[in-house]
Amino acid sequence: MSDVSLHPRRRFHFAGTVPGDKSITHRAYLLAARAAGETRIEGALRSRDTDATLGVCAALGAGVEEDQGGIVIRGQGRLREPMAPLDCMNAGTLMRLAAGLLSGAGALCVLTGDESLNARPMGRVVAPLRALGARIEGREDGRFAPLVLLPSKLRGARLSLPLPSAQVKSAALLAALDAEGETVLTDLVPTRDHTERLLPHFGARIAAGEGEVRIAGGQELRSPGHLKVPGDASHAAFLLAAAALAQEGYAEISGLGLNPGRIGFFAALREMGVEIELEVQEELPEPVGTVRLRAGRLGGLRLGPQETPALIDELPVLAALALCAEGRTEVRGAAELRIKETDRIKALAAMAAAVGGQLQELPDGFVIEGSGGRLPGGRVESFGDHRIAMAAAILSLRAEQPVEILGAEAAAVSFPEFFEVFAAACAG
Ligand code: S3P
Repeated sequence: MSDVSLHPRRRFHFAGTVPGDKSITHRAYLLAARAAGETRIEGALRSRDTDATLGVCAALGAGVEEDQGGIVIRGQGRLREPMAPLDCMNAGTLMRLAAGLLSGAGALCVLTGDESLNARPMGRVVAPLRALGARIEGREDGRFAPLVLLPSKLRGARLSLPLPSAQVKSAALLAALDAEGETVLTDLVPTRDHTERLLPHFGARIAAGEGEVRIAGGQELRSPGHLKVPGDASHAAFLLAAAALAQEGYAEISGLGLNPGRIGFFAALREMGVEIELEVQEELPEPVGTVRLRAGRLGGLRLGPQETPALIDELPVLAALALCAEGRTEVRGAAELRIKETDRIKALAAMAAAVGGQLQELPDGFVIEGSGGRLPGGRVESFGDHRIAMAAAILSLRAEQPVEILGAEAAAVSFPEFFEVFAAACAG
């Protein structure tokens, strides 16, 4: 599969689960590799990004196997110096978290990725890691990968992070495990807290408070034996958006991760007028539950810098919804979109133009005038970005002509089964 053509559809019916959470899968693998003992990870996401993390775990000396119960990682309680550069492929989360995890591991490591990843900013992790004593080099003084990590002695510190990023926060926390003394991260704007929630399961001492996280240095990790990864709220967003747009639309997704740092999209849907119901069934280590949504009228909304961190990955699919909604949608405070797998603001403007919609780029967001009805349809370029490819797909539920997606295989980066799941739900 490289290009996909989706014929206009009116019905979308999905009831089931979605693949495991990408952010939690990356973290579970890396912590299990660093810990002593065997961890069985059930429900882990199998995708290009997360399989890259498995490759890195193996290169760092962890045993990696798959059995009926999930992925089994055997950690040695320390990481081995890799024999070759570590290939993070397209996975920004992997590169940034691995930079933290390896800063104080006493090993020489090279972190590299594909063309898109090596063009994404790494200075945001390099600066706080250097402040902890890490010796890291990279292209343009550490602004870009490949990154080279030299064996370093880390010292705990009080750090104010430069931006609201869960990846940067996680990198600093993982490095702090190997530092001498306590590390305190201050002035934190709320972002997904999967690392803070998972670390205590591996026996780490960490205290998360209002705008601050404290973590002790010199910590060993031990395997909790078993971990279960909930469904990915970002995957769910595409199916929920499809159900919201269809003439006859319904989605019910169970076993879904409902971490407060990840469900901003659900609140946005509500604000657009969609009836969406959440039911939390488990609380620890992550809230997990069921979400139900029925198609209805769709209006526009306004989002600013306070809201965007909790739905940053969902802004492409939100834009697709807004193109079909009644009224205007304005998103600001989302300049981070420009430095994701591609410049997503530009890619969304191209998507809108391709299907006959209206999206005006802003430096830090976009303004959309919703069509309130059907769009003509057309050929959308994914720019190799998984979330653009999947966002474009849902437009076929409101198109007059087919929506053709060029480079649709990019979906495999996070949700390899997406197009099959989508087709089955349209036929269901
Ligand atoms: C992620 C954090 C977010 C998000 C990314 C995954 C994570 O990035 O966009 O897809 O797993 O920590 P930032 O930390 O750059 O905001």
